[in-house]
Amino acid sequence: MNALDGQVALVTGGTSGIGEAVSRGLTALGVRVGVLSNAPDAELQAAIERGDIAAAERADLADADAVFRAVEALVARLGAVDILVNNAAIWQPNPVPESPVALFDRHVDVNLKGSFYTAQAVLPAMIARGEGRIVFVSSVSGTAGRAGDSAYSASKAGVAMLARTLAAEQGPKGIRINCVCPGAVATPLTAALRTPEGEGAIAALMDGHPSPRRKFFMEPAQIADLIIFLVSPESSAVHGAVIAADEGLTATM
Ligand SMILES: NC(=O)c1ccc[n+]([C@@H]2O[C@H](COP(=O)([O-])OP(=O)(O)OC[C@H]3O[C@@H](n4cnc5c(N)ncnc54)[C@H](O)[C@@H]3O)[C@@H](O)[C@H]2O)c1
Repeated sequence: MNALDGQVALVTGGTSGIGEAVSRGLTALGVRVGVLSNAPDAELQAAIERGDIAAAERADLADADAVFRAVEALVARLGAVDILVNNAAIWQPNPVPESPVALFDRHVDVNLKGSFYTAQAVLPAMIARGEGRIVFVSSVSGTAGRAGDSAYSASKAGVAMLARTLAAEQGPKGIRINCVCPGAVATPLTAALRTPEGEGAIAALMDGHPSPRRKFFMEPAQIADLIIFLVSPESSAVHGAVIAADEGLTATM
């Protein structure tokens, strides 16, 4: 038996890309995984039927009331949340002059405020038990500027600071909180880049990238392994950290 067996995790966006890998990895360790996502019902249902997750609630992270209702429904079915993985996000690059304000707002509402809502929803029960772990998923774009990414980067920098602030605030109450900043990962979010037309651009991006695997896109499981380590007892010394998981991409910046 492992230390996570029987615990309850809430993974936002847990049926796609990195979130799906986290859900599967935690489920394999005996964790009851509940997913909050705006993915189609059929996708959520299929994940339950495959045994990847225990339960799912459809909600838009930008809608605070819907998030609180969804978390309440998952807790009613699975029990109080031991582990929160704030993973879901959107990424729609657009240069600032052309970017509608609504697009900027949407990134902040989903990526940043959505992470705030889920943390608010699970923290009271964690504090009452004096125990819990939260991992926020930011991005290399939350720590380094990238043309076109203003809304995404600003929201993800906010996510990293939300994680650090919460670590300072809630650490003394027994809650361990960290943040992961992935580089490029092969998921539906980046599918548009992994096309034959995109090959030239990727080759240029690969120039000077120190990836030991000599690949630009990482696999979702590489990020999931780190997230699962961060919610496991083996990482007990790690708290309030913002950790790059980018195969060295930002080491050269
Ligand atoms: N893929 C990458 O290259 C990469 C790089 C850096 C950081 N990240 C971060 O990793 C995380 C996971 O990304 P991914 O690549 O697996 O993406 P993905 O698109 O495969 O999955 C995102 C999930 O979030 C859900 N979601 C999106 N908007 C939502 C909303 N408004 N309400 C509820 N759920 C919503 C989607 O339904 C989906 O399940 C994100 O935070 C992303 O910013 C990804």
